[in-house]
Amino acid sequence: MTSIVILISGRGSNMEAIVKTAQKDAWPAKIAAVISNRPDASGLDFARSHGIPTAVLDHKKFKDRAEFDHQLVQLIDSYTPDLVVLAGFMRILTGDFVSHYEGKLLNIHPSLLPLFPGLHTHEQALAAGVSEHGATVHFVTEALDHGPMVIQASVPVLPGDDADTLAKRVLKQEHIIYPRAVRWFIDNRISIDQGRVLVSPPESQLLVSQDK
Ligand code: GAR
Repeated sequence: MTSIVILISGRGSNMEAIVKTAQKDAWPAKIAAVISNRPDASGLDFARSHGIPTAVLDHKKFKDRAEFDHQLVQLIDSYTPDLVVLAGFMRILTGDFVSHYEGKLLNIHPSLLPLFPGLHTHEQALAAGVSEHGATVHFVTEALDHGPMVIQASVPVLPGDDADTLAKRVLKQEHIIYPRAVRWFIDNRISIDQGRVLVSPPESQLLVSQDK
């Protein structure tokens, strides 16, 4: 039984997608806890209402990033997870944190990495005038929004799009690829070879959506 801890900072819709898929498909996994760095994260309500243990570690109560991350590691490890899933966890992580979870720390980023790391990815995509945009699930390394990519989903950028319409189209795909990537991890189908993620047996690591 794979034990999973999910970290959120807000709405938690990706966490919700993972929890719902886990329940629907009877994953051989347990969501051991949902942890937020913000006490008011609305995703905590969903987790609580689904009987998942929740915890809050408010970053504002710590004097610096290192101290917060140190405490966060203690908290996460108290649930002895096999996998830590960042689902809209809006914190830059220290090298110590990242190396502690090497190979078992996943993130989702709302762009086709390596394009548009950082914040406001939908605005960045519109400003760049790209015709496709998307999301990426990747293993976390020390470089921000970087690391071996597990799966990506692309969506078209349509005439008249603004950041909200584009974000909505991307988010729909996030809710498909994140549960899929986590399931691959649970089923031991993922390996990393020279920075590249291999899935075996092979399955497409790029979803191309034509959704409007
Ligand atoms: C998602 O779009 C996720 O990709 C993004 O924050 C949103 C969280 O939504 N993450 C990042 O930008 C990380 N760099 P959610 O709380 O509803 O899952």
